[in-house]
Amino acid sequence: MPKVTVPEGRPGLAPGAHLVEPAPFPTAADLPDPRGPLGTPTRLRFEHLPPGDALGIATATPRLSFDVPSAPAGWQLASVTVEVTCGPIGGEASTTTHTLPNAATLHLPWPDEPLALREAATVRVRVSGTSDEGEVTSPWSDPISVETGILAAEDWQALPVGPSWPENPDADRRPSRVRHAFDLPGDITAARLRVSAHGLIRPWLNGERVDDDELVPGWTVYGERLLHRSYDVTDLLAAGANVLAAELADGWYRGHIGFDGGYRNLYGADQAAILQLEVVHGDGSLTVVATDDAWQVGGGPILFTGLYEGETYDARLADDDPTAWARPGEPCGTWLPVAVHPSDAARLEAPLDAPVQTQGELTPVAIWLSPAPERFLPPGIEADDPDVWLVDFGQNIAGRLRFVLPDGTPAGTTIRIRHAEVLENGRLGVRPLRGAAATDTYTTRGDAGEEWEPAFTIHGFRYAEITGWPGEPEPDALRAVVLHTTMERLGGFASSEPLVDRLHENSRWSMTGNFVALPTDCPQRDERLGWTGDVAAFAPTAAFHYDATGLLASWLVDLWLEQQAHGTVTWYVPVIPGGFWTPPRPAAVWGDAATITPWTLYETTGDRRLLEDQWESARQWVDLVDSLAGEGHVWDSGMQLGDWLDPSAPPENPMQAMTDPYLVATAYFAQSARIVARWAAALGKEAEASRYGELADAIAAAFRDAYLQPDGRLSSDSQTAYALAIVCDVLGEDDRVRAGEHLARKVAESEGRVATGFAGTPVVCAALTATGQDAAASALLLETGCPSWLYAVTMGATTTWERWDSMLPDGSINPGEMTSFNHYALGAVAAWLQRDVAGLAPAAPGYAEILVAPHPVGLTHAEAVHVTPYGPAASSWSVSDGVLTLDVVVPVGATARVVLGGEETVVAHGRHTFTAPSPA
Ligand code: BGC
Repeated sequence: MPKVTVPEGRPGLAPGAHLVEPAPFPTAADLPDPRGPLGTPTRLRFEHLPPGDALGIATATPRLSFDVPSAPAGWQLASVTVEVTCGPIGGEASTTTHTLPNAATLHLPWPDEPLALREAATVRVRVSGTSDEGEVTSPWSDPISVETGILAAEDWQALPVGPSWPENPDADRRPSRVRHAFDLPGDITAARLRVSAHGLIRPWLNGERVDDDELVPGWTVYGERLLHRSYDVTDLLAAGANVLAAELADGWYRGHIGFDGGYRNLYGADQAAILQLEVVHGDGSLTVVATDDAWQVGGGPILFTGLYEGETYDARLADDDPTAWARPGEPCGTWLPVAVHPSDAARLEAPLDAPVQTQGELTPVAIWLSPAPERFLPPGIEADDPDVWLVDFGQNIAGRLRFVLPDGTPAGTTIRIRHAEVLENGRLGVRPLRGAAATDTYTTRGDAGEEWEPAFTIHGFRYAEITGWPGEPEPDALRAVVLHTTMERLGGFASSEPLVDRLHENSRWSMTGNFVALPTDCPQRDERLGWTGDVAAFAPTAAFHYDATGLLASWLVDLWLEQQAHGTVTWYVPVIPGGFWTPPRPAAVWGDAATITPWTLYETTGDRRLLEDQWESARQWVDLVDSLAGEGHVWDSGMQLGDWLDPSAPPENPMQAMTDPYLVATAYFAQSARIVARWAAALGKEAEASRYGELADAIAAAFRDAYLQPDGRLSSDSQTAYALAIVCDVLGEDDRVRAGEHLARKVAESEGRVATGFAGTPVVCAALTATGQDAAASALLLETGCPSWLYAVTMGATTTWERWDSMLPDGSINPGEMTSFNHYALGAVAAWLQRDVAGLAPAAPGYAEILVAPHPVGLTHAEAVHVTPYGPAASSWSVSDGVLTLDVVVPVGATARVVLGGEETVVAHGRHTFTAPSPA
C-alpha cells in the first residue's frame, strides 16, 4: 500500500516537542485482559469530575461511577455494595453500608442522606455477581471522598470587595490585591475556603498560594451564574495570627473582550474578591472569615493584565519577601479600606467541572537570534535595543511562558515576550492575532534567580520573541506552560501512517488549547469565544480525546440561559455584544449545538441526566427552526453561515461556500429533529418521540423534493451536500447509495482534495465509509495537496488550522481575517479515525455496546484505545499477506458487536482476536 510522502519543499513533521507530562497514554497492546479473576473496582468518580476526590461539587447527592477492571467469563453483576463514611469535617464520622441490588457501575444514585455543607463522605465500593466459576465478590476499592460546595444562598456571608480608589472604566486599570488579618484560637480541626470573584482571583493564605488553579472562576453567564471553588486549607492555618489574601485581575468580567475593538466592563466595572473561610474548631463551633468592609486593598507588582493583551509586572514593586503582603505582619505599600459590593449569594454556584490547571511544560526545541537587518521590532523597542531572540517550543499550545533569569541581571532590566503561533519570513507571525497584543513584560528587581510566569493571562503560541534578555537565553531558562481545564484523557489513536497519527494529535492539541474553562474557537486572537458551531462540529471528537463532559455540561447550562434570554441558540456562549452578531439570529450548525452536544455526551457517557437537563433547550431549538421553516419543512430563509470556510471561500468572505446554505440548514434541521425524537424516546416521552420522528421524516421528504434531482445528484453538486444528505439521513436507501457514488465522484474530480467547511468536514469521510466508498475516503485522508488534512501536517502544523490553507504553500500566512492555527472544527475528522478507521464506536449509550467495524482505507495498521465509562476498550488491526488481524478489548460490563469480512459476532468482555481476508 502506498506510503504518504511529504512533497519536496515542505517542512514535514514538526520537530519532536519535549513535553514534561504524566505517563504516556496506553496503546492497545498495553491494555490488560479484562477477563480474569474479579478485579478491585477502580477509577471511582463522582458526577462528571475526573476520577478521585471531589471537593466543593454542585450536588448534595453525587452519583458514583467506577470500573470493574477484570472479571471471569460469564460475569453477571448482581449487586454493588457502597460503604459511606460520613460526618462533619473535623468531627466524628459514621459508616453505613448500602447494598444496591440490580446495580450498575455507572451513575449510581447517592445511597445515603444528602450531604450537608461541611460534611465529608468517604466512599468505597465492592461488587458481587456470578460467573462461570460461581459466585464471586471483589475486594473493596480504594476510597475517594466528596464534599459539596455552597448550594444554598443563605450559607454565603462573603461580600464582593475590591479597589476603592477612583478608576477610569474606559482605560486599563491596575490589578489589585486584597488582604485581611485575623486571629484564630488553637483548636482548628478543619477548614474550607470558598473562592469566587468579579474578574479573576488567586487566593493566598499565610503567604502560600492556596491552590494551583488558574483563571478562577472561569467564564459563565455571570449575570446568572458565577462559580466558586472550594479548597481544604486546614494545613495552611495557624493558631493566632493569620492572613487571608488574594490577587485579582479583570479577566472576562470587566476586562477587554471581543473582536473589532472589543468591549470592557461587560458584567460590571468593579473588580472584587469573594472569599469565605469556614474554620471548624475542636468543640464543633465554626468561625467564618469572609470578605467584608474590614478588608484592605492595595496594588501589587502587576501593573496591568489582560487576557488578550498579556501581563506587565514590575518586580521592583514587590516586597523584599514577595509573599509578605499575604502574611501576618505589617505589609509594605499602601493599603486602603475596600469598596464593598452587593452580595452575589443568589448567583453563586458550585462547579460541574474541574478547574484550569498547568498540565505540563514544554522545553524549547530551538532558540536563535531574530534575523537582522530587517528585524521586526515590537512597539517601544528601538533599533539599538538588545538582541531579539526567537524561541520555538515545537508545539502550538494555550498557556504562557515561564522563565528564570541568570544571576547578575541588573535591577530595572525589562524582558518583553511576544507570542505567536507561526513564523512568517523568519519573524513572529502576529497578524493572525488581530487586536491581541499577547505581550508579557517583566522588569527585574536585581535578585538572584528571578523567576516569573504571568498570573492572569493566557496566549496561543508555539513561538516566543524575547527582547531584553541579558546575553543568550539558555534552554533551561525557558518553559512553555500548558494550561487547560483538567480533564481525564480518554482516547489514543495510532496507525501505519505517521502523518495521519500527527493529524490525530493535532486534533487533540487543538482541543486542549481551547478547552480552557469553556470551549472556545481559538486561544490566540481577540475572540476566544464559545462559538456554538465549532462545538457542534467537534463534540464527538472531543468526547473521544478527553472526558470533557463536566466542562461541556456547564457550558450547556449557559447555552440554555442565553437561549432563553435571546429566543434562539446564540452564535457564542456566553453572549457578548458583537456588531454584526447582535442581536443573535437562528442559524444552522451553530444552533444545532443544542441538540448535537448533549446527544453526543449521552451517547458517550450513558448519562440520561444530561438529556433531562437539556431537553427544553434542544426541543425549543427544533421548534424554533420548525416555525421558521414552516409547512414546507425547508429552512430557506434568514442568514446562514452554511458550510463556513470551505476551501472555495475567498480570504475576505468565509461564508461564501460552494454548497447552498439552505440545503445545509435543512439537512441539519432533519438531523436535529431526528436526535430530539430519539432523545424523547430515551426519556420515555412517547408522544414527543413520535411527533419529532414524524417531523424528521417530513423534513427528509421536503429535502428530497427541494434538492434531489432524478439522477441522484443534489442541487449543490458538492462534497458537503452529499455527505450531509447521507449522514443526516434524509435519503431512501437507493438514493443514499447513489449519493455515496456521487460523493466518491466529487472526490475523484477534486483528485482527493477536500472541499468541505465546518458543516461538511465532520461527516464527509464517515459518509463515504457508510456507503461503501472506502477508496474515496482513503484518497481524501491520504492526500497531501492543498486543501487536505495532511497538507497542514506536511506544512509542520502541530494543531488544527482554522482554514485549510491558514498557511499558504509558499509559507506565507493566508491574508484572510479568519486565519488561526488553532481552531478545532476541521480536526473533527478524528472521530471518524476512531470510530470507522480503527473501528471503535459507541453502539449503545455509554459504550454499553461497542461497535467494532474497521475500515482500512489505505492503511496497514490502525488502532484506537478509548477509556469508556466501563473502562478501557480497544480496536487494533493490522493487514499482512492479505489477512486482516483484529484485536479487540472489551471492558467488563460492555459487549462488542464485531463486524468483519461480512460476518457479525457479539463478544463479552475480554481480549478477542479475529481474522478475515483483507479488503482489496
Ligand atoms: C470564529 C469561528 C466561528 C465563526 C462564526 C469566527 O470568528 O473564530 O470559529 O464559528 O466566527 O462565524
